[in-house]
Amino acid sequence: MYIVGDEEIEAITKVLRSGALFRYNGNSECERFERRYAGWLGKRHFALTVSGTYALTAAMIGLGIGPGDEVLVPAHTYMATATSVLAVGAIPVIVDIDETLTISPDAVENAIGPRTKAVIPVHMWGAACNMDAIMRIARRRSLLVIEDACQGVGGGYHGRKLGAIGDAGAFSFNYFKNMTCGEGGGVVTDDDAVAERVRCAIDPCHFYWQGRQDSLQPFAGNGGRASEIMGAMLNVQLDRIDDVVARMRQERKRVLDGTRHLGNLGLQATPMNSADDDCATHVMYLLPDSAAAHRFAPLVSGVVAGDTGRHNYTEWDQVLLGRGAAHPAMNPYEMPANAECRRHYSRDMCALSLAILSRTVMIPMHPRHGDRDIEDLVHDIDLAARYALEPGMSAPQGLRLSRVVDKQKFDVA
Ligand SMILES: Cc1ncc(COP(=O)(O)O)c(C=O)c1O
Repeated sequence: MYIVGDEEIEAITKVLRSGALFRYNGNSECERFERRYAGWLGKRHFALTVSGTYALTAAMIGLGIGPGDEVLVPAHTYMATATSVLAVGAIPVIVDIDETLTISPDAVENAIGPRTKAVIPVHMWGAACNMDAIMRIARRRSLLVIEDACQGVGGGYHGRKLGAIGDAGAFSFNYFKNMTCGEGGGVVTDDDAVAERVRCAIDPCHFYWQGRQDSLQPFAGNGGRASEIMGAMLNVQLDRIDDVVARMRQERKRVLDGTRHLGNLGLQATPMNSADDDCATHVMYLLPDSAAAHRFAPLVSGVVAGDTGRHNYTEWDQVLLGRGAAHPAMNPYEMPANAECRRHYSRDMCALSLAILSRTVMIPMHPRHGDRDIEDLVHDIDLAARYALEPGMSAPQGLRLSRVVDKQKFDVA
């Protein structure tokens, strides 16, 4: 839920007029953003790339994950979390979420097998995973942790920034995120050697541009270099992010305060692992059953989490069908190195997650919503909850919401 204004237009225009669109030009906007964003996250390295998907892939390349490895991913996340595992030749193992809509630490612990090398906690809809529990399990069971913070830009977990807690973190700056440059992403890490490998994955010529160091071993990366236009826009977006998130948190708090009394009827706020640090892109409620959730959602411009298409594992066709690569010889599901990895999925394998998703309703917040919008939303949630949860109620009259919700937010990556 970003804001874009004249400042972005000016920053991009300046780059275009300078003619210096390539990042290795000596005075780079990309480099400036990488320095500033790493500092903002409290980490040593941040490497920009073209997408969140490639950021995840580059992070795994950086950490040395590949054929023969399993990586645990949650049942509810955009499918790129799972396909990026396949892109490095490893196998995604799908595990349950809990009522926070994020990966269940218990499910992680139970899913660890002899081939499991890493886990990807995904901060879904800007809500933090239970990172203390996940890091404890990971350290005890020798797992690497790659945070998927693609939906968590600007959010935190008990005072630390999302993405900055695990061994590496991946971000997206696509059109649907809290900070955007149209498309874009990046990897954060504290580890110098991992950062170098990430940069090599992002730009096969990295060692050439940076000056060759013989201690580093280059390898063939795919290429996903960001442009100066992206860097310039992100530098402006970074100036805005704290305010954008603060406004959404304020809206969410007022909505939750104004609807707390509906808990008696069965409208419960979704539990959170770090409520005060949440991105607050949505206010989320857990209803008693799927039928009530589906009666409630359309009346409040909301969406049932189970209806968010490719964010649920049941819609990840490439994964479920075992089509892990364009060329059969590069398909991780067919690689001899993966013979001992768990490679079988079914549509009901995470039934607990599906049940939670079918009862959860998400209502988007926006930094530009004013007092009137918030009052109207609270008013409509009250009416809709009574209709959805009290027996025998007829459809409510006098709903006030006129906001147009960008449904694509939920349908497209
Ligand atoms: C949780 C999650 N992971 C990964 C991605 C992939 O990011 P991108 O679309 O920038 O490739 C997204 C994008 O929506 C996402 O929401």
